[in-house]
Amino acid sequence: MSDRWYEKAVIYCLDIDTYADSNGDGVGDIRGLIGRLDYLARLGITCLWLNPIHPSPDKDDGYDVADFYNVDPRFGTLGDFAELLHQAQNRGIKVIIDLVVNHTSDQHPWFQSARQSPESPYRDWYVWSETEPPDRNQGMVFPGEQKETWTYDRTAKQWFYHRFYKFQPDLNITNPQVREEIKKICAFWLQLGVAGFRMDAVPFIIEETEPGNPDAPKDFAFLTDLRQHIQWRRGDAVLLAEANVEADQLKHFFGDQGGSANRIHMLFDFMLNGRLMLALARRHPEVIIDALQDTPKLPSGAQWATFLRNHDEVDLSRLTAEQRAEVFGQFGPDESMQLYGRGIRRRLAPMLGGDRRRLELAYALQFSLRGTPVLRYGEEIGMGDDLSLEGRDAIRTPMQWSSLPNGGFSTATPDELIRPVVTGGDFGYEQVNVTLQRHDPQSLLSWFERMIRTLRETPEVGSGTCKHVDIPVPAGVLVHRADADTGCMVFIHNLGPDDGVVDLSSLEPEAEYPNDVLADQEYPDLGKMDALPIGGFGYRWIRLKRFA
Ligand code: NOJ
Repeated sequence: MSDRWYEKAVIYCLDIDTYADSNGDGVGDIRGLIGRLDYLARLGITCLWLNPIHPSPDKDDGYDVADFYNVDPRFGTLGDFAELLHQAQNRGIKVIIDLVVNHTSDQHPWFQSARQSPESPYRDWYVWSETEPPDRNQGMVFPGEQKETWTYDRTAKQWFYHRFYKFQPDLNITNPQVREEIKKICAFWLQLGVAGFRMDAVPFIIEETEPGNPDAPKDFAFLTDLRQHIQWRRGDAVLLAEANVEADQLKHFFGDQGGSANRIHMLFDFMLNGRLMLALARRHPEVIIDALQDTPKLPSGAQWATFLRNHDEVDLSRLTAEQRAEVFGQFGPDESMQLYGRGIRRRLAPMLGGDRRRLELAYALQFSLRGTPVLRYGEEIGMGDDLSLEGRDAIRTPMQWSSLPNGGFSTATPDELIRPVVTGGDFGYEQVNVTLQRHDPQSLLSWFERMIRTLRETPEVGSGTCKHVDIPVPAGVLVHRADADTGCMVFIHNLGPDDGVVDLSSLEPEAEYPNDVLADQEYPDLGKMDALPIGGFGYRWIRLKRFA
């Protein structure tokens, strides 16, 4: 069996600034996070993905980096970070960090130098045009908030390119010095002990941008080169990439050399994410079945990272306009819940009306589909959002630890907090917090602990093959299976509200002492498999057999 750690990982994503504040200044910090590692270990996660940790003017929540070789002083020091790595390692938790090298902050010393003079050694580290590019109003990632992709800089007296906000000038990937610097940044953090990187905006990093050519060619060879470099510096380091591209493009990001992936190890499965949301909205799994059938065969070592929510809006741009409207209708009917015309800026619990059955169903489904699951902080207790905050900040509120003031996140006064804690109502910290749920074996948190522990005993999901089991089932029900050399699992998920019965007798010849390892309720023992009950919004994870 493969022993690639990332195929069996459970990844937990958090932003240090909203997780736990140890010094009472209103901003989460590394020492606060260290104090919560036991919580994370108990939850059962095996890998932490930290949103950007570097010094930053913080105009895009840290995705505007001003120094790649340090940590934001509000979070602590490099010494604290090394301590975090050590303490995480003691608990068997790996740490990966965001690698944001498509662009820098405009406050980065490289850009400040570059704009001063054409003679600056950093001038060619960015992408310039002497004349106004004809395509300057194309390719914006944040429509509504971003007007253009080329902005005139009065100091440089030239136009500079920025795929994202104008305070995020793009680095020039065609410059060999930039490539070397990116490798050096990776090497630095690997040397400190990180287990890899969540690479931001990969399709844009490798874009060889020129003014007037909105379809710039992509240099995939850089990804091959970078992979070789990081693998040489740390054999088991991984790249987990954000590449929200058309399905037929994905293979180029994994790469394939003699049947093995030689570029990115893991890609977020945006395609599946959109379809999961659509299936949940429709209460019908058809589009998930299509997704499983459409999944290309991946080269060895290539892996999907599945998710329901991340730190951005739910991105529905890969759905058709009608499908998108269906999801909006169910989960984001109010315009204030929508963003960039393509997404929803809500957490999952409020989208599902706080319905515990549907929440369990959604996460049981995500965690049992092929790939490595990624969980956003706070989802494990069913946190809500704050739509009064700007844009994506709605889902970036502080972690709700207890019923203490500020939800136990910080001892600062509320007006000093980085963002307000969700207060009052069904999702306020008074109702939804870790401490209350820890005392309750029936809580969502306790359920997540059980579910994650069960997944960790189920390596077939991460390392095996995943297939739809094509048998007649009641409307709303999905049956899929995962097979590996460790054994075989079959999963029943009912996306619809009605109870039903599933006939799995066709699998009976393969079964050896089959049993439910996780389910929404106590079901009768699995004897004959021709009439298995499944509750409305219910799920059953059944171990069909285990090889020695
Ligand atoms: C993608 C990140 O997920 C998002 O949060 C960020 O704003 C952009 N990349 C720019 O770095």
